[in-house]
Amino acid sequence: MASKEAVGLLALVILSVLCESMAGRDFYKILGVSKSANTNQIKKAYRKLAKEMHPDKNRDDPEAEERFQDLGAAYEVLSDEEKRKVYDRHGEEGLGKHDVNGGDVFSSFFGDFSFFGGGGRQDNERPRGGDVFVDLEVTLEELYSGNFIEVLRYKPVAKPAKGTRKCNCRTEMVTTQLGPGRFQMQQQQVCDECPNVKFVPEEKMLEVEIEPGMRDGQEYPFVAEGEPHIDGEPGDLRFRIRQQKHARFERRGDDLYTNVTISLVDAMIGFEMDIPHLDGHMVHIVRDKITWPGAKMRKANEGMPNYENNNVLGNLFITFDIDFPKGVLTEEDKAALKKILDQDSKQKIYNGLQGY
Ligand SMILES: *[C@@H]1O[C@H](CO)[C@@H](O)[C@H](O)[C@H]1NC(C)=O
Repeated sequence: MASKEAVGLLALVILSVLCESMAGRDFYKILGVSKSANTNQIKKAYRKLAKEMHPDKNRDDPEAEERFQDLGAAYEVLSDEEKRKVYDRHGEEGLGKHDVNGGDVFSSFFGDFSFFGGGGRQDNERPRGGDVFVDLEVTLEELYSGNFIEVLRYKPVAKPAKGTRKCNCRTEMVTTQLGPGRFQMQQQQVCDECPNVKFVPEEKMLEVEIEPGMRDGQEYPFVAEGEPHIDGEPGDLRFRIRQQKHARFERRGDDLYTNVTISLVDAMIGFEMDIPHLDGHMVHIVRDKITWPGAKMRKANEGMPNYENNNVLGNLFITFDIDFPKGVLTEEDKAALKKILDQDSKQKIYNGLQGY
């Protein structure tokens, strides 16, 4: 009985393995996204998982390499509209071999490096190419919601060329015998002969993730994507976030500031309104008290998301201005208003000059 069950179970396992290999891989499951995920969600999922699952970080796991390949393939297919359509309809076998090659996806998110490989990053002896700084103009909307920005970079890549070149040059002491018991020591440049290379620009798409709450001036490095060095390592490419001015919101730290102009009537009798936020959601404002010019209202958790913890949001401060009516009132209206407002007794003129 027990063995029969075991056989059944085994058959089931074999069947499911068979099915899986026949139906191809479940790219949505690999990325942990839903079937309706948009491109940004797919990029975000890939970037997060790729960092965790990189084989260099999982050296004890013999399957790490394969899982990393699966992840790359999943990203490659689902991030491409055409391939995704084919995949959704026919599964992985609907796609050609050249459609799923794993490509060089990782480095377009992180730059050309491995986490532990080379080990030369700390080596001060090796020459290093320059860091390249690039300002990246980002809207406040993108800093609120997050986004991916594609940057096409022409990267100089070393290719073999004819001839040789001097390399690994260093200064050495050379001793020459001038005669019996007489030597001369002198410093001399000594070089090796290396195969020649030339730098050829290569197109490369970089994916910069604008994470919610990033700040103006914040740097975003792509390791080893900067200037190459013929005898050493390339420098880094560093994007610098430049927050663009916004027409309606001003940012100070994680707080947002905005100005709203209301009518004098609304200022007197109270009002209700919706202010569209950076991602399009509405901030509802209710006030039944009288509003004076310059009055401020604070809406908690309607500011910017905090970069370190996106669940923490700043405040939104709304400053009100009053749109006064123009023209002249009739005598009756004046009398009526005077009766309603009855401010005469409290009126202070030359405010602030009483001390004189
Ligand atoms: C709000 O109004 C003040 C005063 O006119 C101005 O300095 C500030 O820049 C305005 N803020 C926004 C976000 O428009």
